[in-house]
Amino acid sequence: MSNAGNGSRRYAHICGWGTSVPKRILSNSELAQMVDTDDKWIVERTGISQRFIANAEETTATLGADAAREALDIANISPDDLDLIIVATCTPEHHFPSTASIIQDALGARNAGAFDISAACTGFVYALSIASQAIQAATMNTVLVIGAETLSKIVNWDDRGTCVLFGDGAGAFVLQGSYDPGGVRTSVLRSDGSGRDLLKVPAGGSAIPASYDTIRDNLHCIQMNGREVFRFATRVMADACRDVVSAAGLTMEDIDVIVPHQANKRIIEAAARGLRLPIDKFIVNLDRYGNTSAASIPIALCEAVSEGRVRPNDNLVLVAFGGGLTWGASLVTWDVTPQPPLTGLRRFRRQALYRVARMRSAVRRGARAIEGTIWGSQAPDGMEPPRRDRT
Ligand code: UT7
Repeated sequence: MSNAGNGSRRYAHICGWGTSVPKRILSNSELAQMVDTDDKWIVERTGISQRFIANAEETTATLGADAAREALDIANISPDDLDLIIVATCTPEHHFPSTASIIQDALGARNAGAFDISAACTGFVYALSIASQAIQAATMNTVLVIGAETLSKIVNWDDRGTCVLFGDGAGAFVLQGSYDPGGVRTSVLRSDGSGRDLLKVPAGGSAIPASYDTIRDNLHCIQMNGREVFRFATRVMADACRDVVSAAGLTMEDIDVIVPHQANKRIIEAAARGLRLPIDKFIVNLDRYGNTSAASIPIALCEAVSEGRVRPNDNLVLVAFGGGLTWGASLVTWDVTPQPPLTGLRRFRRQALYRVARMRSAVRRGARAIEGTIWGSQAPDGMEPPRRDRT
């Protein structure tokens, strides 16, 4: 990105993008053998025909890291150049450490900070907003934003009201600072916590810690009031689009493409009607992916770019809603300068870097284990371990 701009204001430009999905596809007809549903109902009520489902080795972090590698290749940026990694997810690898830290280690991004954000299906829009503001404030220059989910691992496979909807996958974007106007122009973020019970995973947090009972009662799985979420979604999608367009000083006529959260085709059609826009301005790929929560917008945008549906200097609105309740939108000008693809030696070097990162991580963990064995019984200077005989 050029730094020879026309002012002192900094802009956050998208310069790389990538996706990753699990190998296994689960079709509607396979689902119909698991719960009381059928292909016709799912297609008519949601628009979904199939979804990708992770196996035991495919996790939120592995999918996120694969998408990130593709995005870094397209941007032609080394993991060492990353200042920050943000992962939007509601299916993190663990409560902590963050999925972002695990991906940072997998990439060998030695100079990057890393954290997850939790805003359910709106997570990617929230993460994009945080990343672009860090770049605009000049505290960061290169930020990796990932939306990654393995919802299949928290779905109640006996609940036909939810299990037909969700799928797994990841999408990643690299953002870089420049003085050239464009890129992520503005975002609006909203929340209404009074709707927190409409879409949630009740147990496993501090309100209802994990117990035998919570596992027996499936309280670690997604619970949703579908009709209420549907009503909320159709209202806020159009509002968020209008708000972000006006915050950017544009009108709806200036918008070329809308990339909505891929939850239900009927919700997207209702938003199109509410905004009086033709449906072909909306990217819809939920028929093949289902609802991948925070991953749905980056996956849909990557696919639209690879299919040529997004053209240079198009104005895009990315708009999402989800648990929280949360909703929001970002306005992005697609002014990407394509980098030459990584070829031959450079691709080989990049692969070698990732192998070195894996080895470095293994060596560090080994060294820590040895250190622990040697120093294990001794407290660090000035810190005395608590004594059991104290009262
Ligand atoms: O990322 C955000 C996450 N969530 C969403 O965006 C979901 C928003 N909500 C929706 O997309 C829709 O409300 C659903 C797709 C979840 C449900 O569609 P609906 O048209 O709102 O159906 P409904 O809940 O009103 O249920 C209609 C009927 C019910 O039967 P009865 O009570 O009328 O006899 C359901 O039991 O459809 C039944 N039903 C099903 N039938 C076959 C519910 N799920 C299924 C199913 N297969 N999978």
